[in-house]
Formats: sequence, structure tokens, C-alpha cells
Amino acid sequence: MYRAGRVRGIGALTLRPGEQVLDLGCGTGLNFPLLQDRLGPSGTIVGIDRSARMLQQARRRAIKAGWDNVILIQADAVLLDPAELCATIQGQGGSGTSDAALATYALSLMPEWRKAWANLTQLLRNDARVAVVDMQDPVGWARLLTPLARAACALGGADITAHPWQAVEEDCTGVIRDSARAGHLQIRAGTLGGPA
Ligand SMILES: C[S@@+](CC[C@H](N)C(=O)[O-])C[C@H]1O[C@@H](n2cnc3c(N)ncnc32)[C@H](O)[C@@H]1O
Repeated sequence: MYRAGRVRGIGALTLRPGEQVLDLGCGTGLNFPLLQDRLGPSGTIVGIDRSARMLQQARRRAIKAGWDNVILIQADAVLLDPAELCATIQGQGGSGTSDAALATYALSLMPEWRKAWANLTQLLRNDARVAVVDMQDPVGWARLLTPLARAACALGGADITAHPWQAVEEDCTGVIRDSARAGHLQIRAGTLGGPA
């Protein structure tokens, strides 16, 4: 169900081998295989999540796959100090500023997602590419499935009305707009640096 959003969001990021990408609210690292395909062993994934349990699973995934280019940091995206986090990433062998970032099904779990977005932009190059993938009510015939979609989001703690991809619309140029699963999954990607 949700893989389609990951595939399209990561595709829209146009990652290049050797780049560093930040995965905000990375969870168990479900995005990592798709990211690795594009970054290669010379690239770096920085996964940030506030949950130690999620990060433990992400670490297991990385170890099992033999990836030594994954940096995992436990931090709250809303409360973190960007300067401190940059230093932590550097301390673990990464670059202080990432080339790209994504947040898949994560910002809608954060009531203060705009603060998390503001923090995220501080961790990136001025012209970094960013992708946000998140959920809304289905459209068209699939509106019938709205109660189901809402229940699934509520169960996972997500606010289906948050629409955090607005940040990409507001702060990026060259915005790519995509959707999947009858509009339930919304994908936005763009380059930081001003309104589209
Ligand atoms: C629904 S999961 C999505 C995980 C992953 N991005 C994916 O696509 O599978 C949301 C993740 O966001 C994390 N999260 C929620 N609020 C957070 C916050 N304020 N700071 C950092 N991570 C947060 C949760 O711990 C969880 O791992």
C-alpha cells in the first residue's frame, strides 16, 4: 500500500551516487534499500528518528545488508538543535550538510511539523533536493474508503489533515507533484530556494 509513495518520492529526488541523504523519521529503514540503489556505497544515509526501538530495527537492517554507510541518530525532529545535530553527523563520519532529504509518512505524526521542517532545512545544503510523502483522504471513487484510510492513519498516530507537503510547495522550486493510491498518497519533491 505505502511502498508506491516511497518509490515515487525517492525517484523524484534524483539522487546521485556518492551523495548524502537525510531520512527524517526513518523508522525501521524501509526507505534504505531504495536509497542505497541510488547512492551506492560511496553515498551516505543519515536516518533520524526519535524512537530507539525503530532505530534498533533500522540498525539491524543495515547490518544484515552489510551497509557501512548508514548513520543513525536518535533525535526529536521538532526539538533538535540543528547545529548540534550537524556536529553529531560529522562526528560519525558524515557531512555537516546533506545533499537531499526525505520524510515519508513521518511529518503527519508531528503536530508541530512546520518546526520539524524548519529544522530539517537547516541540516541541508541551500540548494538541496527534498521530498515529502504523506497521506490525505482518498479522492474520486475511492472516497468510499475514507473511513478506512482515516482509521489506519489514526491508528498509526498520523493526522490525515496535516498535508505537510505544503512545505515543499511553499519553500521549493521545480516542484514535482505526484500521487498514488487514488490520491491517498501525496508526493512532492523540489529544490530548496524559494517559491515554485
Ligand atoms: C509511520 S512511521 C514512518 C517511518 C518511515 N519513514 C517509513 O516510511 O517507513 C513514522 C516515524 O516517525 C517517527 N517520528 C514521529 N515523530 C517524530 C519526531 N518528532 N521526531 C523524530 N521522529 C519522529 C516515528 O518514531 C516513526 O518511526
